[in-house]
Amino acid sequence: MTTLRSAAPPLSGLSDYASEARKLAQAPYSKFKVGAALLTVDGEIITGCNVESATYGLTLCAERVAVFKAVSEGFKKFTAIAVVADAHKVTPPCGSCRQVLWELCGNIWVHTADLKGHKKTMRLATLLPEPFDKSFL
Ligand code: THU
Repeated sequence: MTTLRSAAPPLSGLSDYASEARKLAQAPYSKFKVGAALLTVDGEIITGCNVESATYGLTLCAERVAVFKAVSEGFKKFTAIAVVADAHKVTPPCGSCRQVLWELCGNIWVHTADLKGHKKTMRLATLLPEPFDKSFL
């Protein structure tokens, strides 16, 4: 059984959890499998994979699956997310995921990696400059 939740490994290990989660992706339409692993301030890791719908539009990205799982289970504070895909370059979160991550996680570290070991780390604020959020409401 793959529980995909544990106490924190070294931060470099977060991508390994995302890789494991990626194996569970349901991506029959795009064939593009993505895994994500979200790290809480207390060292818990909550994973997600993309889950596609035949409607296409109802598809959920791995990052949002991970963050919605985490929030729905009571986790509130996060430090980092790892995202793993198998493209010709490392895959950053899409625009919708950037917005949701900003609102629910704040300015976390975003570690992106591919299966060949290429990596890139950014802060979420770099990926989503001048975000709209509750501070405007
Ligand atoms: N996808 C993700 O899960 N995360 C991303 O950051 C980019 C895109 C998924 C959505 C869809 O299932 C597939 O990748 C192709 O877009």
